[in-house]
Amino acid sequence: MTNPTKDRVLIFDTTLRDGEQSPGATMSHDEKLEIAHLLDDMGVDIIEAGFPIASEGDFQAVSEIARQAQNATICGLARANFGDIDRCWEAVKHAKSPRIHTFIGTSPLHRAIPNLTPDAMADLIHETVSHARNLCDNVQWSPMDATRTEWDYLCRVVEIAIKAGATTINIPDTVGYTAPVESADLIRRLIATVPGADEVVFATHCHNDLGMATANSLAAVAGGARQIECTINGLGERAGNTALEEVVMALKVRGDIMPYETGIDTRKIMHISRRVAAVSGFPVQFNKAVVGKNAFAHESGIHQDGMLKNAETFEIMRPEDVGLSATNLVMGKHSGRAALRAKLRDLGYELADNQLRDLFVRFKDLADRKKEVYDEDLIALANAGLDSESDRLQIRHLRVVCGTEGPQTAALTMTIDGREVSTEATGDGPVDATFNAVKALFPHEARLQLYQVAAVTEGTDAQATVTVRMEEKGRIVTGQSADTDTVVASAKAYVHALNRLLVRRERSGTDLREVSYKDVS
Ligand code: KIV
Ligand code: ZN
Repeated sequence: MTNPTKDRVLIFDTTLRDGEQSPGATMSHDEKLEIAHLLDDMGVDIIEAGFPIASEGDFQAVSEIARQAQNATICGLARANFGDIDRCWEAVKHAKSPRIHTFIGTSPLHRAIPNLTPDAMADLIHETVSHARNLCDNVQWSPMDATRTEWDYLCRVVEIAIKAGATTINIPDTVGYTAPVESADLIRRLIATVPGADEVVFATHCHNDLGMATANSLAAVAGGARQIECTINGLGERAGNTALEEVVMALKVRGDIMPYETGIDTRKIMHISRRVAAVSGFPVQFNKAVVGKNAFAHESGIHQDGMLKNAETFEIMRPEDVGLSATNLVMGKHSGRAALRAKLRDLGYELADNQLRDLFVRFKDLADRKKEVYDEDLIALANAGLDSESDRLQIRHLRVVCGTEGPQTAALTMTIDGREVSTEATGDGPVDATFNAVKALFPHEARLQLYQVAAVTEGTDAQATVTVRMEEKGRIVTGQSADTDTVVASAKAYVHALNRLLVRRERSGTDLREVSYKDVS
């Protein structure tokens, strides 16, 4: 329900475009559809679903999301050339409400890349925005690196884009350079100065290089912006983008000083945060605002005492407002499939029958090995298993010998494209031996960039979540898995990363990270 005393701020989510652009955060087609569905369902106004010209995979994902979205406007990104814009329109035109987002770098540094004079760039902006507007009624235009663009030139190009038919003007802080006072002032002055500015929506798009993305976005709203561009968990290149959960909860909690509202159902935040962390392979830091594991944990004695007397002593938002239920003991090994389905639904997971069957087997297996199974355990199981069905490489058996007497040895059986293969390998520790065995069965040149282990719950029988990041010829992929056996979780995470690498290798054409922004015409 809208509140007449509050201005509506549109939430534009770019997890699937700017977020996925983060090295290693590649998502599969099905994962993108799942995240888009969750975004649509939680009330995001505009979903930037991808960059259709970048690859056939991106094009297919944007088209499919456009066809399936029920509520949100579906937007695709295009550089300032007709080829990009036409391809973008081909993908988004299936949506109930499509949008083309076209951009060009306008700061002196960015203008130097395509070697365009200011006048030539101004002409190009007019031509490309007009072309987009001839295809689609809803056109967003962005002067990339706006916060480092000369004021006069910025006003000039914004005016040209508005005259050419842009309906939203986005002001990107591409390198996270601005600060709150400047961010508010820039939007305020643009609205006051540029002819036609009152007929379009101004958007803010901030990066977090100096840790100010949330503050800068909220300041831009105070200056008159009515669209915030953001990603779940702040996912994005370098230090990431503005975090959706932070701006949305800030507006909700501090409505007294920021009288704006969004259409987001905040109770869906926690689930989508966990799914984005799982499919992108970018874990959420423990002390991350709103969605971090410790965001609602109160360790110190004074805090716990206060919390028991009155939760408001140390809590400015209730855990349930972001969809977090108190950690509780779930079921034991005697619990049935219906109870598991109900519990998972409670946690935000709607599983198909075959997924539930598979998860039930793994739940029983876990309940046999682990005394107490918590919500977090189920979440780790669900996240580790939802995307493994079509994987080309699968672990079948693993036996590892380790201890004080080396060498540590791993005996491994895998299937590769359905064919069963086995080997034995040694290594410097059980994980190294296991990875060597995988490499012997599936030789590859990918370099391990990151190997990280985290316990899901407390106790020595806790599941371990393992994250593995690998790089091959500039392609970076991340794999994740969870198991009470850390070495098994490691093997599965490694194989998960390799499966993603195979998907990346198969992607026809180029990939967003491999497409240069400088190819503007
Ligand atoms: O950060 C940026 O400038 C962008 C543009 C493509 C809008 O993501
Ligand atoms: Zn960006």
